[in-house]
Amino acid sequence: MTSTNLTSDNQRLYVTTPIYYVNDKPHIGHAYCTVLADAAQRYHQLLGMQTYFLTGTDEHGQKVQEAAQKRGIDPQQHCDELHQAFKAVWVDLDCKNDQFIRTTEPRHKIVVQKALQLLWDKGLIEARDFEGWYSVVEERFVTDKEMADGGLIGSDRIVRLKERNYFFLMSKYQDDLRQAIASKRIEIIPHNRANEVLGFLNQPLQDLCISRPKARLSWGIELPFDTDFVTYVWFDALLNYATAVGFEEVLDGGAGELFWHWWPSLTHFLGKDILTTHAVYWPTMLMGLADALGVEHGTLLPRRLVTTGWWLVDDTKMSKSLGNVVSPLALREKYGTDVLRYFLLREMPVGQDSNFSEEALIRRNNADLANDLGNLLQRTVALVHKYFEGKVPAATTEPSAAVLLMFQYISYLQGTHPVADLMNYDEAQPLTESIRHFRLHRSVADTLGIAQRLNQVLTSDAPFKTAVTNPAAAATTIHHVLGGIAICARLLTPVMPRASLEILRRLSAEDFLEMDLGSSYNLTIGAPVLEGPPLFPKFEWKPVPVVVTETGTGAGAGTGAGAGTGAGAGA
Ligand code: ME8
Ligand code: MG
Repeated sequence: MTSTNLTSDNQRLYVTTPIYYVNDKPHIGHAYCTVLADAAQRYHQLLGMQTYFLTGTDEHGQKVQEAAQKRGIDPQQHCDELHQAFKAVWVDLDCKNDQFIRTTEPRHKIVVQKALQLLWDKGLIEARDFEGWYSVVEERFVTDKEMADGGLIGSDRIVRLKERNYFFLMSKYQDDLRQAIASKRIEIIPHNRANEVLGFLNQPLQDLCISRPKARLSWGIELPFDTDFVTYVWFDALLNYATAVGFEEVLDGGAGELFWHWWPSLTHFLGKDILTTHAVYWPTMLMGLADALGVEHGTLLPRRLVTTGWWLVDDTKMSKSLGNVVSPLALREKYGTDVLRYFLLREMPVGQDSNFSEEALIRRNNADLANDLGNLLQRTVALVHKYFEGKVPAATTEPSAAVLLMFQYISYLQGTHPVADLMNYDEAQPLTESIRHFRLHRSVADTLGIAQRLNQVLTSDAPFKTAVTNPAAAATTIHHVLGGIAICARLLTPVMPRASLEILRRLSAEDFLEMDLGSSYNLTIGAPVLEGPPLFPKFEWKPVPVVVTETGTGAGAGTGAGAGTGAGAGA
């Protein structure tokens, strides 16, 4: 078996999202995580890295079984139908995943069963009898405390149940896990979340119940060593990340070339709601598998977890049961994919919670995109047509002081100019730093900073005046502004792929494939500069909650019933 090469971490990035439950329709929370992961892989491509991007759906377990039961159909049919909505929404949102995995695929079931068998053979899974109070209605064991509190007694068919179950010996790995997290071998981003996990690990770690008797739950992957049971949905789900890159071959003792190519750079994006499963269950499962395979623990551990906050509506987590779910497709239809992606990435600092509001989206669109970037392009293209025959002018004179400041800012973003010499850079960070640390809200904001400085160049150089009195100076300024726009557009391709391409097309600067962090304009003197409609129309904020959608699975129009104000749409 090939062992891993940690240095490959600098050239490759394997990015994953949570696999979403098929009992829900995609909402803005799911969209955020997938768009963030997509932008992260695209940004790393700008850094010259090779990336692989995986997303998919989680199709087993009680929630899915119940959802199918409610519809009166077979769970597999339910999954076959509902996973389509997720597949389609990522296409619509320009997320370029290399693969879409479903946990009901045969290749995944095989991996889960082989992993279970290996752990069983190694003595890392044990059968134990468990006795407790069981709620037939909720299909779960209730705790002694819940019983003592009295709320459940006599209500919901609570029975005493003695059940045999299988446990993965997770507790065995407590110290190694603590060490892996404390040493940042598994890096948890943002770092304060690592402290949460370390705090949790100060309590004795329990073993993990990884089985469910079929009598209670049949929709799952069968235990290979006891066919009366299926495995716990999280044991199944977490392994998707390994299945997708050919873990089966590794489990079979093969070379696993694909697996070892990507695994050392494994980077999970996930919401803070599922941090424990990813930071505790998953690494200990992998340590168990490493023991069973006879490799060092470190070779199988994930490289990092990027933990996101929640989109809130009125300070409450968006959730289907509360009926406050915002549909990404409704927003996309109204504002376009690019604006939605920009908003999601710019508005929420990675790791923190943010309130979602359509008003905030419109504010971002109007201020950052329509004014700072869109207007800049329109004004500059108009000047080129008015004074330079619609062609890219050459820079024949020394750049102005304003242009020099713009150069400084760009070289600061590229990491080639020290911050100490500069003023008024707010919180801007060199892009390589923001990207490598997954602070993508920063890289987006700092890139827009280029457009803001280009607007300052136009204001202070006033080429619309000097075009008559000093055409060479005007040409020089316009040349650099066009170049700055091209750099800005290239740096925005991970965020707004469509608008970026369109800007580059209008500047005849399409050949942007050998992208770097924007060290060259890639403009051709004399090439046509094309006019076109404004890329980012402004929207007026109307306090009508048009994007709050239906709950349930019906195809309701979602006009925001019960919104209260009753303001007409035409207000
Ligand atoms: O947990 N704000 O799937 P899931 C931000 N199948 N992000 C949100 C969000 C919100 N309001 N709501 C959901 C599962 N998310 C498991 C995962 S992985 C092996 C198995 C995002 O459909 C966030 O990333 O409930 C969260 O972790 C994920 O959706 C949960 O999706
Ligand atoms: Mg959930």
